[in-house]
Amino acid sequence: MSMREGAATQAKAPACVPVHVGVIMDGNGRWATARNLPRFEGHRRGVEALRRCVRAAREIGIRYLTIYSFSSENWSRPAQEISELMGLLKRFVRHDLAELHANNVRVRIIGERLSLAREISNLLEEAENLTKGNNGLTLVIAFNYGARQEIAAAAARIAAQVAAGELTPEDVTVERIGANLLTAGIPDPDLIVRTSGEQRLSNFLLWQAAYAEFVFLPIYWPEFDEAALLGAIEEFARRDRRFGGVTARAGSARS
Ligand code: IPE
Ligand code: IPE
Ligand code: MG
Repeated sequence: MSMREGAATQAKAPACVPVHVGVIMDGNGRWATARNLPRFEGHRRGVEALRRCVRAAREIGIRYLTIYSFSSENWSRPAQEISELMGLLKRFVRHDLAELHANNVRVRIIGERLSLAREISNLLEEAENLTKGNNGLTLVIAFNYGARQEIAAAAARIAAQVAAGELTPEDVTVERIGANLLTAGIPDPDLIVRTSGEQRLSNFLLWQAAYAEFVFLPIYWPEFDEAALLGAIEEFARRDRRFGGVTARAGSARS
């Protein structure tokens, strides 16, 4: 971290910084429609918001940032919009990879890759390979991602091991399922932020979000900036995470 960045972090960092933040970047289309612009313009401005988000996450000291950029269900959109979204992903990786790498960001991709165009899967692989030795922010890009599909694939892999006699049914534990998910090795999200006002997960990190805190922001994704992220983190810091237990205060009151 540079001196300048260090000073900025001290000035901005909230008291309680979540280790892992998941972001459901929603509302690009509505942002554009409200301005009489084509939906594509919303997606294009959404990429700019993503750059602001990554920069802010680095400065705040978040360790893992998972961004939901294309869901398994987004294939149901018109072909033209799908092709525009694919084009924007390609442009984002080509344009931003060097800078991400220079900033010590490690890129990880979660999602189904086999059905993607070869050009796209190659680019995603290149991003992971180039940055795999970095130890700054881990940017997890959920692309062609669906949590139910991820859980089903993990179950199928484990079932095959049971069928082969390598595992017994008793070996199918919470830990083993977690280790077979695409997020293996990544801590569960502490905070999940969704823009656009919708209050749902839309098949994002269903397993991993078991104890995440949710913050739903009433802004469209192209409007997202560092202040919005800091606001969500402040809200997170006010939450009382009990994980099924009792709070420190309640606990001491009992004793
Ligand atoms: C988020 O914005 C981007 C993707 C889901 C790819 P939307 O495109 O979903 O925008 P709205 O929700 O229709 O406004
Ligand atoms: C969720 O947004 C997926 C992404 C942000 C990539 P959607 O716009 O696809 O979700 P729904 O359809 O409103 O649930
Ligand atoms: Mg949407």
